[in-house]
Amino acid sequence: MRTPFVAGNWKLNKTPDEAETLARCVVDAVSGITGVDVAICPPFPALERVASAVRGTAIGLGAQNMYWASEGAFTGEVSAPMLLTCGCEYVILGHSERRQFFGETDETVNRRLKTALRAGLKPIVCLGESLDERQADRTEQVVEAQMRGALNGLSADDVQGITLAYEPVWAIGTGLTATSEQAEAVHGFLRQVLARLYRDEVAQAVRIQYGGSVKPDNAAALFDQDNIDGGLIGGASLEADAFAAIVKAAV
Ligand code: PGA
Repeated sequence: MRTPFVAGNWKLNKTPDEAETLARCVVDAVSGITGVDVAICPPFPALERVASAVRGTAIGLGAQNMYWASEGAFTGEVSAPMLLTCGCEYVILGHSERRQFFGETDETVNRRLKTALRAGLKPIVCLGESLDERQADRTEQVVEAQMRGALNGLSADDVQGITLAYEPVWAIGTGLTATSEQAEAVHGFLRQVLARLYRDEVAQAVRIQYGGSVKPDNAAALFDQDNIDGGLIGGASLEADAFAAIVKAAV
């Protein structure tokens, strides 16, 4: 049985002060909920403050991106050892906003992913099709290519340490959610591809989150699906009560 996993992606929101306050509210709101892994991913400058707010609780800390070199002349980048020093356990990689606005590709996601795993971080690897791709009936082709590209060269052991997040680009921040059936179809497909690339046991072990306008009122229907193992939550993770309601729905 896979333990569900709900992570909050705060994106470019919250100063360190605001982030610490929100993290403390999240700690209160989710306290006592068991049977689900929870993480919050604030912006880099807030990591240490949020780390101290969640220390000693069951909430994990994650970053929203990282670079593959550990140090050097890479202006503006942040490395895996730096994230570990700030108390991170998780790192989101290949979010569609990184792909869309910052030029990330399957190949650079793969390099980041290998580095994160070697460093002992737990990666959340995002993939998902655009509206045009869905309308052209290319969803499976697109997500399979993204997954193969991201996982290129990884062993079965490596892959079991990864969480995948299926996030249809057209559903992110738009209020449009994939229906539970649409999401489940893609999650089931991704698991089949994992079984083909590795073996069924590996495919069954990997958690696949859904992301894209998950809210307290649609979370339960999504998380009830066999192949949906929790969610990556953007907008609704910025409110402690809404986030906690979504966490509860995953149990
Ligand atoms: P959203 O974002 O919940 O605001 O749609 C999800 C994500 O981008 O991870």
